[in-house]
Amino acid sequence: MAKLLVTGAGGMLGQAVAAAAEKSSDQTLALGRDKLDITDAAAVTAAIDQFEPDAVINCAAWTDVDGAEAEEAAATEINGAGAANLAASCAASGVRLVQVSTDYVFDGSATEPYVESSPINPQSAYGRSKLAGEQAIEAAGGDYAIVRTAWLFGAGGSNFVDTMLRLGAEREQIEVVTDQIGCPTWTGHLAPALIACAAANGTGIFHAIGGGRCSWFELASETISLAGLKAKVEPTTTESFPRPAPRPAFSVLGSERGDEAIVLPDWHEGLRGHLAAAGVIDSAAGAAQGA
Ligand SMILES: NC(=O)c1ccc[n+]([C@@H]2O[C@H](COP(=O)([O-])OP(=O)(O)OC[C@H]3O[C@@H](n4cnc5c(N)ncnc54)[C@H](OP(=O)(O)O)[C@@H]3O)[C@@H](O)[C@H]2O)c1
Repeated sequence: MAKLLVTGAGGMLGQAVAAAAEKSSDQTLALGRDKLDITDAAAVTAAIDQFEPDAVINCAAWTDVDGAEAEEAAATEINGAGAANLAASCAASGVRLVQVSTDYVFDGSATEPYVESSPINPQSAYGRSKLAGEQAIEAAGGDYAIVRTAWLFGAGGSNFVDTMLRLGAEREQIEVVTDQIGCPTWTGHLAPALIACAAANGTGIFHAIGGGRCSWFELASETISLAGLKAKVEPTTTESFPRPAPRPAFSVLGSERGDEAIVLPDWHEGLRGHLAAAGVIDSAAGAAQGA
């Protein structure tokens, strides 16, 4: 990939994508919110006109799932209208757009993995706002890949794994839900896949999640165990933990794209990669446990 523009480059995924892009593309322009606000259509067009990228990877988003319930219009302004601005400018300039989307476009009631064409039915304001972005991109008429991912963790942003590390060090006991199942995904695995997707040809929706599946309880237990923390992880249920936004009970994504499917390593490998990168385990131990 010759020239890559990364938006939302200050976020958790954006940082990983910017770092991976620096390694693999001839020229990368990584813009955080302070340098490019994607809700500013003129600024988006100017950035694309000036840099003339071959592709844009959009990592900018409103990601406060609970906050979106009270501020749906503000979330939709970024996740819907912001994505629409990028799509319009990219389409006008013949630039491929890679948009990061989410499992929250599904209702979580399935028992088999959701594939790209599975019926969407978002249950939360965040899910609706991300779906608005998907639909705007599809309508813009340009070349695009919408990459739905889920349960992200990585360096440089708040995420469940790091929260477990903190709580595991502070508390003797942590209660974690067993009745939400998903696919934990390390940004260190997703970022290079997004760059490959930016350079690839397929248009449409792709699913990209860490291999395997587990509950939040299992992810917490594995994190605490690998980190050697003493806290006991106790099972609980979603009902005992009311939150403003409903959480999908089943967020396992699959793919019907055959050879074009984005396949990432198993989530255990991602977890060890993240813990090793954070210095929580040494990478040799991580590799040994993965063997
Ligand atoms: N985290 C997950 O579990 C998860 C799961 C599925 C999908 N995703 C998707 O993955 C993508 C990356 O998420 P993330 O976890 O990296 O979230 P994040 O750390 O919150 O990053 C989002 C970034 O977007 C920036 N941003 C917000 N509004 C913006 C605007 N108007 N213009 C430009 N930048 C703006 C934020 O800046 P400020 O911090 O200054 O607001 C932040 O740096 C998002 O599309 C998200 O929907 C995430």
